[in-house]
Amino acid sequence: MPLRKRLALMAGYSGLLLLGLFILGFAAYSLRFGLRGVRLDLSDVTYIYTPGDTFTNIAIFSHMILGALAMVLVPFQPIRRLRRRFPWLHRMVGRLIVFASAFVALGGLAYIATRGTIAGPLMDVGFALYGVLMLGCAIQTLRHARGRDFARHSAWALRLFVLVMGSLIFRLHYLIWFTLTDGMWSNEHLTGGFDQVQYFGFYIPYLVALEIWLKRRARAET
Ligand code: HEM
Repeated sequence: MPLRKRLALMAGYSGLLLLGLFILGFAAYSLRFGLRGVRLDLSDVTYIYTPGDTFTNIAIFSHMILGALAMVLVPFQPIRRLRRRFPWLHRMVGRLIVFASAFVALGGLAYIATRGTIAGPLMDVGFALYGVLMLGCAIQTLRHARGRDFARHSAWALRLFVLVMGSLIFRLHYLIWFTLTDGMWSNEHLTGGFDQVQYFGFYIPYLVALEIWLKRRARAET
């Protein structure tokens, strides 16, 4: 294999490895936070905990647990070799991801309805839209798999993939932004200019890029 190709391959694998580490790190954080929130009184630890409101606490902290589960499982689903060798596993894990992400979305939406996000109405709208899209994609992914329309199933599953990763992308944007600018246009209440772009910027551009890619793929196949 030519050296340039080998280097490109190594760079690709290193990128994937780094992404895998980020996924595992954030999923572990989300799982631990969620497990503590459903069992303990975190009033002194985080504003996300609502003293005396079991429904809201279960909704938001279980969404963190299920979100971690969906995030760790979803990268395996597009791997063709795995799907072909173990179709039953693909179906089983797929169902788990669909149900987990539906409850992640519902938990987040319930929290927004009862408490609202830290930054107020505009962030509420951005995150509520994120939740509605995730719920819609989860339903469509399952519906088209059950209807054995695998072209549509695959497109909706990829949309769901992007949305499940959205929560990590949100944090990665902050990591990159803080490294480059030391937190310009951002504050602890998430109401700065950068924060406001983030309310929508962690999922909409990626969904648009995916739609363009899906259109190109469909055109190439006809
Ligand atoms: C796999 C997907 C998701 C994961 C792993 C996840 C995880 C988390 C975590 C760990 C937090 C705590 C905040 C932090 O420490 O940074 C959080 C907060 C929150 N999440 Fe999610 N989440 C996911 C998807 C969603 C979705 C789809 C919605 C939309 C309905 C949502 C709505 C919220 C809201 C409203 C908060 C509180 C925001 C605030 O006011 O600070 N999440 N999530």
